[in-house]
Amino acid sequence: MRSLLKSGIRRIAGTDETDRHSTPKLPRGAHNATVISVAAQKGGVGKTTTSVNLASALARNHGLRVLLMDVDPQGHVYTAIKKQVHAGGGALSSVLTDERGGREVMEVVTETIVEGLHVTPCDPRLGGAEDLLGTRIGKEFLLRDALQITRTHYDVIIIDCPPNLGNLTLNALVASDLVLIPCDPSPLAVNGVDALIGTISTIANRLNPSIDILGLVMTRVDGRNTTLNDTVRGQLEAAYGEVMLDVNIGINSSLAQAQMAGLDIFEFDPRSRGAVQYEALASKVKDALKN
Ligand SMILES: Nc1ncnc2c1ncn2[C@@H]1O[C@H](COP(=O)(O)OP(=O)(O)OP(=O)(O)O)[C@@H](O)[C@H]1O
Ligand SMILES: [Mg+2]
Repeated sequence: MRSLLKSGIRRIAGTDETDRHSTPKLPRGAHNATVISVAAQKGGVGKTTTSVNLASALARNHGLRVLLMDVDPQGHVYTAIKKQVHAGGGALSSVLTDERGGREVMEVVTETIVEGLHVTPCDPRLGGAEDLLGTRIGKEFLLRDALQITRTHYDVIIIDCPPNLGNLTLNALVASDLVLIPCDPSPLAVNGVDALIGTISTIANRLNPSIDILGLVMTRVDGRNTTLNDTVRGQLEAAYGEVMLDVNIGINSSLAQAQMAGLDIFEFDPRSRGAVQYEALASKVKDALKN
């Protein structure tokens, strides 16, 4: 009776190896990915633009094996690089909501034209999955558990989060080693940073003690509006100076045009300011990786 109870509890928490392997067993790889969530509560601050171009830079320019995960039901990662994504893969929601547990994200990834860069396809059903997750015991650990073997096949896993602090973002943060926070120069974005950092510290205390903040990166910085930029940067530095990255992503129309064309910035316009700045960010991120 007690052993039945114990195995039942383990199955919910997803830590029972024998149960995990009752689904088709995926081989372990030789890698140990650093998992990075790109998160911000405010919409439109450049989370997807940052996730896509950072992931692409790490694969193209640093030779890393990178998985770019879209946990946002809006599916903007796919829209942003649709010309580069090969057909295939499956629905991430099916992995997260599988009653038996033990499924892996790797089962649903697909390749891209960029060597070393894999992505999870867009999945509008993640919206419904988010509600379903709310009813599950151990709901915060579903993504972490579904990355156990997957993470041994990559050097870095970048998770593009939705613009809220709901169950999908919570799952991403619990699965992450590091969080990269994009913030555009607006007062609302600063409020969003406060809320997100509060959530990250709760997660660090209760659910994922190893989570850390990789940094806060200013995005969509309009070089002409120096007063606003200086005010927002000043506020952020006063509160979070130790995690502010010294890389700024300026407003650059090539970044928006690249997204419209379904290409990452390095394919669309490798000499643009956006490409140079995202490569500078990638170099910083590479220095922060575990391996
Ligand atoms: N540095 C930039 N320069 C110019 N346009 C940008 C820049 N960064 C992002 N954009 C544009 O701003 C819009 C919002 O960017 P993005 O989709 O990356 O934000 P997001 O935070 O992921 O949004 P959401 O909260 O909806 O997921 C897009 O149209 C994108 O092309
Ligand atoms: Mg987005």
